[in-house]
Amino acid sequence: MELPYAEPYKCKMVEMIRQSTREQRLQWIKEADYNLFNLTSEKVYIDLLTDSGTGAMSDVQWAAMLTGDESYAGSKSFIRLKETIQSITGFTYVLPTHQGRAAENVLFSATVREGDYIPGNAHFDTTKGHIEFRRAHAVDCTIDEAFDTNTMHPFKGNLDLNKLENVLKAHPRENIPFVIVTITCNSSGGQPVSMENIRQVSALCKKYGIPVIFDAARFAENAYFIKLREEAYKNKTIKEIAKEFFSYGDGMTMSSKKDGLVNMGGFIALNDEEIYKKASVFNIMYEGFLTYGGMNGRDMAALAVGLDEATEFEYLESRINQVHLLGETLSRYGVPVQHPFGGHAIFIDANKFVPTIPREQYRAQALAIELYIVGGIRSVEIGTVLADRDPFTRKNRYPELELVRLAIPRRTYTDNHMLYVAAVLKNIYDTRHEAKTGYRISEEAPIMRHFTAKFVKI
Ligand SMILES: Cc1ncc(COP(=O)(O)O)c(C=O)c1O
Repeated sequence: MELPYAEPYKCKMVEMIRQSTREQRLQWIKEADYNLFNLTSEKVYIDLLTDSGTGAMSDVQWAAMLTGDESYAGSKSFIRLKETIQSITGFTYVLPTHQGRAAENVLFSATVREGDYIPGNAHFDTTKGHIEFRRAHAVDCTIDEAFDTNTMHPFKGNLDLNKLENVLKAHPRENIPFVIVTITCNSSGGQPVSMENIRQVSALCKKYGIPVIFDAARFAENAYFIKLREEAYKNKTIKEIAKEFFSYGDGMTMSSKKDGLVNMGGFIALNDEEIYKKASVFNIMYEGFLTYGGMNGRDMAALAVGLDEATEFEYLESRINQVHLLGETLSRYGVPVQHPFGGHAIFIDANKFVPTIPREQYRAQALAIELYIVGGIRSVEIGTVLADRDPFTRKNRYPELELVRLAIPRRTYTDNHMLYVAAVLKNIYDTRHEAKTGYRISEEAPIMRHFTAKFVKI
């Protein structure tokens, strides 16, 4: 008999979570202006809002925290972290930041100017936010297959080389500071980018003299998919695969809260000394001195261990199989989910689930709210609310996909939690035809509105 996957760790400490009643949740979500970000965590039973910074650290990481060196300059913990990053990525220069968007802020301050174009694969919202805040343009060059949730493509995070070349041709080189490749691609569903595509993007960018920067928050999960889905890599280790794809780029921004297996942290890694020097000035201004950049010494110590643990095959195998257990159970129940399943999350297709709710009434947001009311489960909308208004026309942008993301924290929930979530969704799915109306926004911020927007039930 084939053996099932099993976690390469056991529990040493647990945190209690509590159920609530439907009546309580109806009241709480109303008080939260129907924005799931406004709920306090004790009002949530299973929290799948994000996989970012919500994972569990290992005993080795906790032990490393006690050895953290809190020196302002030249911290040993930074040196250790830098060496780990260099050994995993091959990049030379490292700047620590307090999280991923801070890495974007620092790097983009040094490189992006008004009117620039930054092509990429479905830029993440903070990435797009930092680009558009500088009045530059994020151009999405994702392959078309990514927008059909039923197409079985092994690498839906891939960039379309024709779309990319059209952008590179259309604008002068000095207006394209870099191309950004997000691995795995969060906004298109935690979908991986193939080694072949990374190699081709890199070659194309070289032809036009444009650097390639990775948004590498989930690089280890991306490497796992390459190992499973690209024949030439099946016998390579995760670390070998990661080292190879990073070798095709010029640098990276990292949110360590994902594949760094820590609760807070980020960094920039680069090959170009000039950009590093420019970015260093902004790092000192916005984050802190070059050897801590907004991180505690102890957090850098834990991150060095986390990066090592996250790039081990056994860990990734159990992590991604748990995500896929949720996806497979939902599929079995007939719930429309994105295929193939992503690395860190399962995405429910709200266009197929509740087509009865008008799009202008934020149908994915409506479904996420229902999931909370019925099961105490917190998810997040990845659709029109997240897409923000067009910065120039101020009109709502309607993305191709209206998704509800169930992001699975690393090493945190059990498979039974996944089965509970799937059962709640099945019950909602069975009564989906009753859903006719959604929500309108009564208050929103000019950018990244999803975090703070207030909604009113229609
Ligand atoms: C692909 C990607 N890039 C960047 C970020 C921003 O990172 P942080 O939340 O650490 O600021 C995220 C966070 O979810 C992400 O998924």
